[in-house]
Amino acid sequence: MSVESPTPHGLALPGARSPDPTRRPTGPPAGPPRRVPDPRLVPARPVTSLSARRPPWLLRTLRGLIDSRPLLATEHSRIVRVGVGFGQLLGLPRRALADLAWGLLLHDVGKLAVPDAILQKSGRLTDFEYTLVKKHPAVGEVLLAGFSLPGPVMEIVRSHHERWDGTGYPDGLAGVRIPLLARVASIVDAYDAMTTPRPYRPVPLTVPEALQELRRCSGTQFDPYLVCAFSAVLRARERR
Ligand SMILES: [Fe+2]
Repeated sequence: MSVESPTPHGLALPGARSPDPTRRPTGPPAGPPRRVPDPRLVPARPVTSLSARRPPWLLRTLRGLIDSRPLLATEHSRIVRVGVGFGQLLGLPRRALADLAWGLLLHDVGKLAVPDAILQKSGRLTDFEYTLVKKHPAVGEVLLAGFSLPGPVMEIVRSHHERWDGTGYPDGLAGVRIPLLARVASIVDAYDAMTTPRPYRPVPLTVPEALQELRRCSGTQFDPYLVCAFSAVLRARERR
């Protein structure tokens, strides 16, 4: 899939002077971060209300794909709720929020091609198993190719495992070459993975521990500017 504009939507981040996300900060945002509510507490719009421009048959088909795997359905519903709340706080316009919701709902649809025995494996994956798992973004893109979904949705599906330092997959994109909504989805996906029980980590991290991990990976795995914004959200929650 071709990579469109790396910043398909306007973005107003807490503490940022310019809403243009293509302009990278030379340091942390000036002044203390604004107190913003926890995205989990922000009533995100239901996905169905964001899908008015999608025909019902498409909605049923896509939801059917997700619901066919209860593990994916539960996880994706939660990620959409957190991600859309975060996107609203970032000031994403309505269309971008809809794209983000759809992208988060569908981002791991390619895991339908990965056996449960691998997805739920508690031990270390073999090289073959890891190679199979790493194909899920490209597989998801193929599965969705005929649905005429908006470009940013497809970018989330393909690029949510890219890393800021360029060592991610499947394309090895770096920095702002990674589409903006894919960078947002990457943080939300990682946060959700850290703070909920997983087969390989039954006891999830606490919010402060997850925040520390996001900061540790800021500038390597994640967009440092977006980690700063997401951290401000989590710190505000912790102060309450
Ligand atoms: Fe994924």
